[in-house]
Amino acid sequence: MRKVELINDGWTWTSGKPYSDPEPVNLPHTWNGVDGQSGGGDYERMTCTYTKRLQRPEIAPGDTVYIQFRGVNSECEVFLNDESVAKHEGGYSTFNADITPALKMGTNILTVKVSNEPNDRVYPQRADFTFYGGIYRDVYMVILPKDCFEFGPDGGVPLKLSTKVEVREVVDIQLGGSNMISFGILTAATFPKARGDTRITVYEGDKEIAQGRAGTVFEFPNVRLWNGLDDPFLYTVKAELIVASEVVDEVVERCGFRSVEIDPKKGFFLNGKSYPLRGVCRHQDRPEVGNAISKEDQDEDMDIILEMGANTVRLAHYQHDQYFYDLCDEKGLVVWAEIPYISEYLPNGDENALSQMRELVSQNFNHPSIVCWGVSNEITIKAKPIKSVVASHQQLHDFCKKEDPERYTVVACYAMCGSGNPTARVTDLASWNLYYGWYAPLPAKGAFNRIKGASNKLKKPVGLSEYGAEGMPNLHSAKPKRLDNTEEYQCIYHEKHLELMKDYPGCWATHVWNLFDFGSDGRNQGGDPGKNHKGLVTFDRKIKKDAFYLYKAYWSKEPMIHIAGERFKNRVGDILNVKVYTNCKNLSLSVNGKLKENIKLENNQHVHTFSILTDIDKKRNEIIVRSGEMFAAAVFHKVESPDPSYTLNKKNKGNNYSWEKK
Ligand code: GCU
Repeated sequence: MRKVELINDGWTWTSGKPYSDPEPVNLPHTWNGVDGQSGGGDYERMTCTYTKRLQRPEIAPGDTVYIQFRGVNSECEVFLNDESVAKHEGGYSTFNADITPALKMGTNILTVKVSNEPNDRVYPQRADFTFYGGIYRDVYMVILPKDCFEFGPDGGVPLKLSTKVEVREVVDIQLGGSNMISFGILTAATFPKARGDTRITVYEGDKEIAQGRAGTVFEFPNVRLWNGLDDPFLYTVKAELIVASEVVDEVVERCGFRSVEIDPKKGFFLNGKSYPLRGVCRHQDRPEVGNAISKEDQDEDMDIILEMGANTVRLAHYQHDQYFYDLCDEKGLVVWAEIPYISEYLPNGDENALSQMRELVSQNFNHPSIVCWGVSNEITIKAKPIKSVVASHQQLHDFCKKEDPERYTVVACYAMCGSGNPTARVTDLASWNLYYGWYAPLPAKGAFNRIKGASNKLKKPVGLSEYGAEGMPNLHSAKPKRLDNTEEYQCIYHEKHLELMKDYPGCWATHVWNLFDFGSDGRNQGGDPGKNHKGLVTFDRKIKKDAFYLYKAYWSKEPMIHIAGERFKNRVGDILNVKVYTNCKNLSLSVNGKLKENIKLENNQHVHTFSILTDIDKKRNEIIVRSGEMFAAAVFHKVESPDPSYTLNKKNKGNNYSWEKK
């Protein structure tokens, strides 16, 4: 049987700077946790060395010992006892280094030279996020027996589960009636090494429902579908390798059955029902640790997405941790997965883009949550769509369609990329990143109309892959303006987009940029350099900005009331405008303990502003907004002049909206 052991502890790390001494570290680890988020675009991109002493494990003849890396940014070479055993280019995928031939008796020294130095081959080289260097995800030692299930190609899953749903008419001859039934079709492929017979067992919960061999086409009538947030049901499939009547290896994977159709006019359908995809993009990093995040961090991110009521997440701009795709399967989020083929075309990078795509697809094939493979993001921002850019898109698309005909391919286009641009034509779906009302002084409606127009022209579904505005929880204004970085402008921006969404059913998916603030060391704005603050939630996940609650009011089924502008405490003037985000119908307002107003909201109305004439002598106004048992409370102070801490002064007013290194 295979053995899998987590080996995150007891490493040393030696910085690439001259005269550095080794430091003890545990993984996950990055060397850019601080300088990658402090601004200036000057974080250390260098080659560092990790080492670990490994005792030779007990192995039987024919066993293979692998070190499995789940994410090393961005390229590395692995050595055992000074012998090179593997090289890997690409910072976000899993790879396995076979150390068996180099293993000696007793203590072995595992060394990993990791580089995030600039180069001209490995994506990404230019983008609005920090390329934190390090071994920043888990590392395992995996011992495979002589007869075993091998890893799939490109570090892929050892048990590949192709699922499909077919709705068929079943005729009941005796009763003379007929019925439409969903059949789940499952084919399991394994990659066995050496000899042996495979036994495949399918489970529904704990119940065994079928048995066969690798390659058997299983058909399950009345299959329980993986049905998004409503019922993300997963089946479990076990493969056993049997040699001389003994089970010598075993792997277990989960899968789900669902059908997806996307119509240019009607949008996204899950299992035959309209299911407009409305959600967020996610970057994974956090303060101080960069991308070296924990499982608890990922659980917290998932809880926040679910609280908001989103039904989709674009996992941007690279392969995320397996753990997160698993969570998406379990919780029912529809996923857009992608590779970091982004912002700048590298003439020497086609091979790397393809290898990152091969890994993404092979390693994530079984996740029912994933519906599309993103081939590139804003690739035309720098490059003209020269032939090789289009050819590389075609190559990526063709690979995905051959390997995984059941899923779609998609591209996220740059705003200045017209629908006539050949890169927008290659993939099954297209989407645009449009910041109307933020970078562009244009109304949000223009963005949706552009999407509709592009869909008509390209004759395929087109979505809004990014839209967003910076919002700082400490900056406030009674007259919010584009580019002012206030929490209030961020709210207005998103209110406009939300109002319009329902009028564009063809827009197959919308993804807010971004759910969380994230590290982008080249940026400097909002008085907090090194970060992009378009998040609906702060970088440390501690503050949900007002705009977060706006989405919750629109999307969540959980009854809620939120008073926006609560942090905008000190207000000038006799009229106090209090904006409320809610999904309740009847609201009552009290000010300083006195009931002032009862209102009933229109159907689908989620925003209401109370204009309160405050008592002349009252400096402190305690507001309570109620609906039945539920209430939200906030305190506002009446002040003579605007609070200067709400505005950036000339000195700290970063207004560099470019993330390019200067
Ligand atoms: C882009 C890009 C993101 C970036 C965002 C922004 O269009 O795809 O990676 O962070 O815009 O400017 O905030």
